[in-house]
Amino acid sequence: MPTKALWGDGRLCYGGDWNPEQWPPGVWREDVALMRAAGVNLVTVGVFAWSRLEPEPGRYTLGWLDRVLDLLHAGGIRAALATPTASPPPWFSLRHPDALPVTADGVRLTHGSRDTYCAAAPAYRDAARNITEVLAARYAHHPALALWHAHNEYGTTCHCPHAEAAFRRWLTTRHGDLDALNDAWATSFWSQHYSDWAQVGAPRATQYLANPGQLLDFRRFWSDTLLSAYTEQRDLLRAANPQVPITTNYVLGDWVPVDHARWAREVDLVAVDHYPSATGRGAEEQTAFAADLARGWARHGAGKPAPWLLMESAPNQLHTAGRMHTKEPGRMTRHSLAHVARGSAGVMFFQWRAPAGGAERFHSAVVSHAGADTRVFREATALGAALGRLTGTAPGRVEATVAIGYDAASDWALRHPGMPRAGLDHCGEAAAAHRALWHAGVTADVVPPGTPLDGCRLLVLPALYLASDATVDWVRRHVDAGGHLLVTWLSGVADEHARVRLGGYPGAYRDLLGVRVEEFHPLADGERVPLTGGGTGRIWSETVHPAGAETVSAYAGGVLDGRPAITRHRVGDAYAWYVSTRPDDDTYRRLLTEAARLAGAVPTCPGAPPGVEAVRRHDGDGSLLYLLNHTDEPQRVPAAGVEMLTGEAVGSALTVAPGGVAVVREEPS
Ligand code: GAL
Repeated sequence: MPTKALWGDGRLCYGGDWNPEQWPPGVWREDVALMRAAGVNLVTVGVFAWSRLEPEPGRYTLGWLDRVLDLLHAGGIRAALATPTASPPPWFSLRHPDALPVTADGVRLTHGSRDTYCAAAPAYRDAARNITEVLAARYAHHPALALWHAHNEYGTTCHCPHAEAAFRRWLTTRHGDLDALNDAWATSFWSQHYSDWAQVGAPRATQYLANPGQLLDFRRFWSDTLLSAYTEQRDLLRAANPQVPITTNYVLGDWVPVDHARWAREVDLVAVDHYPSATGRGAEEQTAFAADLARGWARHGAGKPAPWLLMESAPNQLHTAGRMHTKEPGRMTRHSLAHVARGSAGVMFFQWRAPAGGAERFHSAVVSHAGADTRVFREATALGAALGRLTGTAPGRVEATVAIGYDAASDWALRHPGMPRAGLDHCGEAAAAHRALWHAGVTADVVPPGTPLDGCRLLVLPALYLASDATVDWVRRHVDAGGHLLVTWLSGVADEHARVRLGGYPGAYRDLLGVRVEEFHPLADGERVPLTGGGTGRIWSETVHPAGAETVSAYAGGVLDGRPAITRHRVGDAYAWYVSTRPDDDTYRRLLTEAARLAGAVPTCPGAPPGVEAVRRHDGDGSLLYLLNHTDEPQRVPAAGVEMLTGEAVGSALTVAPGGVAVVREEPS
């Protein structure tokens, strides 16, 4: 992996999106001076600059970008040079109306925002390849270039005739023949049998429930189509200079646009954008989950622990729930270092300088509308200095002995219409399991099925609905090797085509778990069902028949009164747990603490007080203990070594300031 240019000098990456095309050259010089003052060493350039680079078809105006890159180089700042293909210029849309995207309702969108193209339209792909080649030819050997940043947050879909034709081609590769497609999509239901490929289309607006197999394949098709748009850019960039690493920034959150795990094999470095949708404690939990997800993708792609990069985050305000939330002092630093603790090779912001106009004029920036004489700029400068003190610590391996299975396709399938309950959410269930472990102080990997599980003592499958034979095999191999397993409701219920595995739920894992589920009893929003031993279940409940498993907790009331809710099955020396409802957060934390303890997966820093997040990151020289104090009080934490941000020796414990962070280079034990 050619990532030497990024951290060959041992420095963590620090910077963000910089948009010089929005400013006159005087501001560029001021920006570079400010970047140097803040300790910035990497900036994404040109990500939405297509209309400035190619104002008319085939006429290129690159002089300004030459000057920008030269200026950065002179200032000792490296560039993550973007291809601008996420926002084609107006001339493109007018010239190629057939490349404008069409929604499922048949509405063709028009120019006026960004991401308005169909990635299956030949004209769009030609234009994207063309501007990529122009940039590659001009800049592949520029001394400022450290990383290619292809596109921005691939994630669009389209239902136009180009997309439909490409979907059919994709389906022939996936299924081989129509018989296999009819079988996978269960088209004998509702007279949907296809007798000719020409009859197969994109899932447009339908009279009633759409076909789940078709919906699922359409999502997979778009993930693969966007991936091919990325790989064709990547190959052009690589051909121009194989030494420069290439990536694209994944968008993540409640929305799962592509199968990031498949993408991880095609990038030199997994890069993610993270904007929590929660504020307060919820934001800390989401930050840890997102970072562990990114690390899981990196590990999946590389087949071994690998670094990744936080490519975008908010230096200040977040836009969520219809308004802007300003981060209180310290939060930006804590969130940034939480990502580094969990494996990021640096911290990048969206964005460096706030624009005066445009749709995102009120999105947060290191240099805000008020300028650089601000608390945010001062905090960013202090963070730059802190990252400087961590020079030589990247990349490393994060210590984790629990893994949570996560799979984009399961998330897509659970959201299909016609499920036993609306609002099912695999990503949310993975986050809930992660949150419970986070509060228990146990660091978890979040991994796509198939990821090597070396070192994992407990594997958690949270509503991992789809189970291909390969996924079942992966789970079995973990258990055969002595690993513990905890499976929650709806996991393994369907195969990879979203067809139910018959014989009782959860078809794929019944024997491992020693249970057979006969009926689902989904709960209403807000409904709670009491459990023996305390706590409640929500969202879901079901009729569980033990078939070898012992009951750990039963439903206490309602139609399932006295029936098992949580069970445990002995498999060799390990346990395979089944959880048939979503326990409340406290019950879930206690349950996972116990399952982890029995599996030999202990908290990272057993003496850390509640509200202090502890993560251990190993590098060539030993281990670093990151301690993040999310409370408003100073917290005393056991540790020994040298605190890297202050240089102070730590005997047996240290005090972490309210809202503060400490990084202890631990004494070898
Ligand atoms: C990201 C995107 C950026 C910017 C940012 C605003 O998802 O990549 O271009 O839109 O959100 O928060």
